[in-house]
Amino acid sequence: MHPTYELTDAGDRYFDGLVDKFSRSLYQAPRGELRLAMLDYLLPQMLQLDQQPVLDVGGGLGQQAAWFAERQHPVTMTEPSLDMLTYARHWHREAKALPCEAMAYVHAPLQDLRQQAPGPWPLITCHAVLEWLGDPRSAIAHLTSLLAPGGQLSLMVFNRDALRFSNAVKGNLEKALSDRLEGKGKRQRLTPISPVTHAEVVEWGAENNLEVASVAGIRVFQDYLRQPPTSDKERETLLALEKKYCQQDPHWRLGRYLLYTLIKSETSQ
Ligand SMILES: C[S@@+](CC[C@H](N)C(=O)[O-])C[C@H]1O[C@@H](n2cnc3c(N)ncnc32)[C@H](O)[C@@H]1O
Repeated sequence: MHPTYELTDAGDRYFDGLVDKFSRSLYQAPRGELRLAMLDYLLPQMLQLDQQPVLDVGGGLGQQAAWFAERQHPVTMTEPSLDMLTYARHWHREAKALPCEAMAYVHAPLQDLRQQAPGPWPLITCHAVLEWLGDPRSAIAHLTSLLAPGGQLSLMVFNRDALRFSNAVKGNLEKALSDRLEGKGKRQRLTPISPVTHAEVVEWGAENNLEVASVAGIRVFQDYLRQPPTSDKERETLLALEKKYCQQDPHWRLGRYLLYTLIKSETSQ
């Protein structure tokens, strides 16, 4: 029997109890490796990086926070799941040997960060979090309020259109046709409860005076392969293919995740 996992009153899914499942099914699997390799390739191109402080919202197991800390950014990682935050803190210290002063940790959901980590921040990352919220639209307003004028938001969302496509490819035609794509957030399933479309990101960004500076698709091809790569050579070729087309129309639009740089206008408060 699996324990039943509950959503919060706001309808959010915190990842308590999911450390093992999340690290096994994502980061110890080829798709997690590819995601990290693509972020490593794209973030330096899509962001202006000058060792500025970073707020990593919903940082999970702490990979992205470590990536910035290793590049000499002071990082504040926030997480509402104590399990995830504890794992990340331990992993940063033991496995990554990050100096304590490089990292700060805040145990809070993004809705509470105006009190707990108000900033304003020149750079915020929020990767693969919106799709686990009951109200992803209002999350953009919360994040914007933490950004400094001219600040950058690196936002990555689980792409609803790609979810429809992959359901069709797997033969779940009724599900794709009826558009019942979202998960319920119960048990240990990792199907997001609020997958997001590109059109929604553009609309919600505009509502908050955020300009879409750049966009890319993450894992444009990998999930649709009939034969996954079996050798390092094939994995390298797949990575080269993903890099070549991740910012090209129409391919980026079907990336499993969509990665954005959103800029807050200089005149916004
Ligand atoms: C799919 S994981 C992504 C973790 C990490 N950002 C990454 O890219 O690997 C989603 C994370 O969002 C967190 N989360 C859920 N609700 C949240 C909220 N209201 N505020 C901030 N984080 C939240 C979960 O606890 C979980 O760690």
